[in-house]
Amino acid sequence: MQKICVYPGSFDPITMGHLEIIKNAANIFDKVIVLVAINPGKTHFFNINERADFIRKSVAEIENVEVDILDGLLVNYAKKVGAMAIVKGLRAVSDFEYEFQMALVNKKLNNETQTIFIPASQENLYLSSSIVRQIGTMGEQIKGLVPDVVHDIIKEKLIKRNNLEEEKWAFMKY
Ligand code: COA
Repeated sequence: MQKICVYPGSFDPITMGHLEIIKNAANIFDKVIVLVAINPGKTHFFNINERADFIRKSVAEIENVEVDILDGLLVNYAKKVGAMAIVKGLRAVSDFEYEFQMALVNKKLNNETQTIFIPASQENLYLSSSIVRQIGTMGEQIKGLVPDVVHDIIKEKLIKRNNLEEEKWAFMKY
């Protein structure tokens, strides 16, 4: 039987930290499905298709990784594809409380899918998608923070949209 896991997140955008978790999961499981989701508690910068596209390009060379868009409950998706595990990355103790709560809720909803935590390596402990967005929109260097293959496109889009926002605010001031 194939060992399948799902790795959910909003990936707004994918970072080197996410790619590290994907690679580690791909070494453990036969198949990894990276699931791009809408987090209702967040305003997303990139739309869901852009986010999925950045990940597809980043994992193109890893044979056992697929990318899909999550519409609905994570545990229902996991059940549908026969995933035995939900993979989540842990960067710091501060991640743990929230992640543990999510894991317990998911367990309550579906007892058959276990959550597995993979710790981030030291160089990615500080990284998050919003850090990348903050640095990138200011035109600063995001090389090394996002996968090389999508670096230029992410940087270009961050700068372009930030300029549009600034024009909008400047227009509203007068
Ligand atoms: N490296 C770098 N950054 C990481 C990371 C890692 N290893 N692990 C997490 N992060 C960052 C993410 O980029 C994100 O950064 P941001 O807040 O700046 O955007 C932050 O840590 C939080 O990540 P995560 O906990 O994965 O939250 P998320 O918003 O990306 O995703 C879902 C949340 C989509 C997983 C969750 O809402 C979900 O499961 N939704 C599906 C619907 C559902 O079933 N809900 C019921 C579950 S209780």
